[in-house]
Amino acid sequence: MRDFWKVLNVLRFIGLRQFSRFVRYAVLRDIYNRRWGERVPSTQGAGPNNVHGHVVSRSGARFQFREMGLDIHFLTPDFVRITWTPGSLPVGYALEETEWPQVDIEVQDTKSRTILSSSEMDIVLSEDGSLTYRAGTGQSLRREAPPQRVGEAWIQQIDLKPEAQIFGLGERAGSLNVRGRSYRLWNSDAGGSYGPGSDPLYLTIPVYVCLQEEGSSLIFYENSFDGSVSMNDRLTARFEGGVLRYYIAFGALEHLFERYTALTGRPPLPPRWALGYHQSRWGYKTEADVLDVVEGFAKHDLPLSAIHLDIDYMDGYRIFSVDQNRFPDLTRLASELREKGIRLVTIIDPGVKVDSEYEVYKEGIAGDHFCKLPDGSVLQAPVWPGWCAFPDFTSSKARAWWGSQYARLLDQGICGIWHDMNEPTTFTAWGEMTFPEVTQHDLEGVRSDHRQAHNLYGLLMNQAGFEALRMLRPDHRPWLVSRSGWAGLQRYAWNWTGDTESTWRALRMTVATVLNLGFSGIPYTGPDIGGFSHHPDAELYTRWFQLATFLPFFRTHSAWDTSRREPWVFGEPTLSIVRHFLELRYRLMPYLYTLAWEANKFGLPLVRPLFWSQEADSDLWSIDDAFMLGEKLLVAPVLEEGVQSRKLRLPQGHWYDFWDGTLVQGGSEVDLDAPLTRVPILVAAGCVLPMEVEDRLILHLYPPIEGDAESRLFNDAGDGYGTWRVDRFETVMEEGNLRITRSSEGDYPFPYTEVELVLHGIFCRRAWVDGRETAVRDNRFVVVNFKMVELEIEGA
Ligand code: GLC
Repeated sequence: MRDFWKVLNVLRFIGLRQFSRFVRYAVLRDIYNRRWGERVPSTQGAGPNNVHGHVVSRSGARFQFREMGLDIHFLTPDFVRITWTPGSLPVGYALEETEWPQVDIEVQDTKSRTILSSSEMDIVLSEDGSLTYRAGTGQSLRREAPPQRVGEAWIQQIDLKPEAQIFGLGERAGSLNVRGRSYRLWNSDAGGSYGPGSDPLYLTIPVYVCLQEEGSSLIFYENSFDGSVSMNDRLTARFEGGVLRYYIAFGALEHLFERYTALTGRPPLPPRWALGYHQSRWGYKTEADVLDVVEGFAKHDLPLSAIHLDIDYMDGYRIFSVDQNRFPDLTRLASELREKGIRLVTIIDPGVKVDSEYEVYKEGIAGDHFCKLPDGSVLQAPVWPGWCAFPDFTSSKARAWWGSQYARLLDQGICGIWHDMNEPTTFTAWGEMTFPEVTQHDLEGVRSDHRQAHNLYGLLMNQAGFEALRMLRPDHRPWLVSRSGWAGLQRYAWNWTGDTESTWRALRMTVATVLNLGFSGIPYTGPDIGGFSHHPDAELYTRWFQLATFLPFFRTHSAWDTSRREPWVFGEPTLSIVRHFLELRYRLMPYLYTLAWEANKFGLPLVRPLFWSQEADSDLWSIDDAFMLGEKLLVAPVLEEGVQSRKLRLPQGHWYDFWDGTLVQGGSEVDLDAPLTRVPILVAAGCVLPMEVEDRLILHLYPPIEGDAESRLFNDAGDGYGTWRVDRFETVMEEGNLRITRSSEGDYPFPYTEVELVLHGIFCRRAWVDGRETAVRDNRFVVVNFKMVELEIEGA
């Protein structure tokens, strides 16, 4: 049934005339799969059976069972890799770090079990192949039943504690805690519109965090085959092939992210402009359309960082081409926009139109870069341009060729690339909207078929794009945004949440989707503001815009047949509210850019759940209608129609209302005022929140109630690979006096000539900057390059 709606929706976008192609492809795909698909006899599930012996290896040990092999390998004393064989090994595309220093371990044999101990944990292997992980204190953290093998598939079962909650699994359309359902691990086009419950989506990742009273753990299955995870009393993970390889870390959330992103990579620092606002629409068809939109932003005094060109800019949807009638001089357009501080971003899909006159297609054929069927013929399937061939991104040669094509766009002044349809998606009248399973892939010479390569396809398209941008524009940081990917995508590209429906329930779901992507190592993401597929009314659009103001990727986008969605279309008061939030986004830029640096340095997501630094407080675990932006800002967006206030259970500690500076006691439920003009935001006590207005830096100080706190500010040129600096502000409250000490690191000169300090929630009687008294007016005063500020406070 879902397939039927998907097809209908795709036809809505592409037109009925294409239907015969969809049918033809569906028939051919089924024939190919039947003709060449191996039928592995579906044997009865078999476990490892009794262990025969083991050999101690560097940082671990290898065990031989009657039916299986097991390799336990410590990457660090608290981070371990488990591999059950037989099966084909993963190619390692997900990994950034493959070399880890040796870990000293002890192996202890008793009659019925073997214990491997590092300085941090023990792994207990029973004769039957079950594994128990214990903390150094002896506490049991996780127990795995012996895995089962059915044909080529692996099945693993883990007991879940009643209170355990599970987060992650890539992009999911539901609640934050994903327990209680089944999820498929197969990147899939949602068919042009999706809402809560739709599964799978474009970007699945077999990684999850398990939160339970004994402490948290992170598990990443390095297995790209089709699979599923279902979770009730037990968690059952199933993979249709490969070896069963997974990595496990235990500890606090920050530690888990540190480990996972050391393994799969951290996001590079983006160019600063990418954190600004992006305007997009499938339907900005001509240069005049684009100029009109840009003029509208200027006329209504709305800041704008980027405009995205959807497939309409191409000549007959031939990728890397430009329609000369619609965009007669893209170079001039890009440069005119650049002068206004606006970047042009263009979409690129993997499908190359089958057209013997078309350069990219001819090169792809001549260089043997396209995916093939087992008989050596090039796979063809329909996408926007009609029949297409598809580069085999699992071949380094094809990636290099593909990457060289980006010069065609970069040379015309394009600053960013938007990768779409890379699940990979093909149109079909029924069945899977993707390649036949029997499609052949190089996989760096290992050679395998689409069952193994499917989930890697988007990731590797982004690797190709990222490496090309690094090479073609070495002085600029690449900026790519991708719909699909896999573990490790964060090394190359941002993500957006695809074709969401324009409904309140889809808005509500977005927070959980973004948080779960963060749990999966993908920190940069955001929704199409207003939803992709329909027409939001002014209130829904406003609330969506407000939410996105605090998400890493801040873009409006929608389908071509939706009503226009530029901020002024809705009239007042929407326009003024949107302007206010746009300005707020740009004022917050120093804070956001510092978070981007933290993501790069430590692997931390920008958007975090409320329990981020208070994991033990299980009352916070299921909150998925509010989030932390970094460590200091709590955002409680309005996600329901007609609402003017909302409730929220606050984390412990002290908070200040961002809008009026009132102090709010944490640890209980609070009522927050939320008229249409406002999103409740709370600032953690002790924070120095850096904001900017043009060249002026404003340090908003929210005093600590007791003790001290540290805030950071990162600066560099905003692009390129030059010098940088980090300023640290330590705030200490002592006997009615407040002290702010600043220390700096790095060579980049402090970029602001004017700095103002603004105090919230207190009244300042007198202030001294580096020992010299300074005039305070309305709780604010000017400071430049200070080392220490001391304040005498009233009523402290
Ligand atoms: C896909 C994308 C959407 C884009 C459309 C046309 O549906 O998800 O963002 O507008 O294709 O390129």
